[in-house]
Amino acid sequence: MNAAVNIDAAVKALAKGLLVAFPTETVYGLGADATDDKAVAAVFAAKGRPSFNPLISHVASLAEAEALGEFQPLARTLAEAFWPGPLTIVVPRKPACPVSLLASAGLPSIALRVPRHPLALLRAFGKPVVAPSANPSGRISPTTAAHVAAGLGASVAMILDGGPCAIGLESTVVSFTSGTPQILRPGGVTRQDIARVLGTNVTVALDSATPESPGQLASHYAPHARLRLNADAPRAGEVYLGFGPGGGEYNLSPTGDLVEAAANLFRLLHAIDQTNAAAIAVASVPMTGLGEAINDRLSRAAAPRPLP
Ligand code: TXA
Ligand code: MG
Repeated sequence: MNAAVNIDAAVKALAKGLLVAFPTETVYGLGADATDDKAVAAVFAAKGRPSFNPLISHVASLAEAEALGEFQPLARTLAEAFWPGPLTIVVPRKPACPVSLLASAGLPSIALRVPRHPLALLRAFGKPVVAPSANPSGRISPTTAAHVAAGLGASVAMILDGGPCAIGLESTVVSFTSGTPQILRPGGVTRQDIARVLGTNVTVALDSATPESPGQLASHYAPHARLRLNADAPRAGEVYLGFGPGGGEYNLSPTGDLVEAAANLFRLLHAIDQTNAAAIAVASVPMTGLGEAINDRLSRAAAPRPLP
């Protein structure tokens, strides 16, 4: 099938209320018609996601986003600077917003994103598409079509295959629902880039006890293996996930490049999981630039897990 045929089939599936997995520049998404309550409910069911965790609505342009949410000037400035791209903006819902209330999980706000891909699908569908990362809830996010097929293959009508995701880490979530902008989840756009565009420092509001953004839940992005962070070397029985020169078989970036490390993070965690390793020792990764998002994902993957 060529790309146009795929898009056509994907639009038809979405219109029928079915789930379509698709690649974005960050991670693969599990897409559904955002205005169809049943389709949105099917997303929660497929992921096994706690119902209080709201979903991002993906649209093709800022104009479409402004039809759904209330953008104050700073929110618009940020959207203009980074869309299409790895940024999600949380704003108050407009009263006439047609997106399923289930997607907002009872919050008076809505999370909106214009991704770099798949704009053709979003334009052709013409309606907002909710899409969480296409992984079972709490597990590692997918950065290839094969990851999606392994985790959620049985739940989706089709998987659009766009190869490995260029960024490999989810979008940065910035909220404009209180007086000052707050980062609810570090991601593909760095805090420094956001601060530069807004001309003000932005705080990262991470509090797993009262998750305003449930991506803040403590245990998340978890492989089956246990993680030990900031490890200089593996101990007996551990697989080593390195960073920088001399890191061994699994290395986030042999040259110590944080952009490359972000792109490799979930792929390598998936790969190590497939070896049935019981434990992973992870090298320390600097907190600069994308390192903030990488360390956020690593500490959640390492967090104590709820009993099964
Ligand atoms: O890169 C991404 O953002 C990917 C691709 C597929 O777009 N999607 C993604 O979705 O990561 P998900 O559902 O795994 O994460 C969405 C994040 C969660 O942390 C959720 O709590 C937060 O966005 N979120 C969604 N709606 C929100 C709202 N109204 N208020 C606060 N946080 C919200
Ligand atoms: Mg996710």
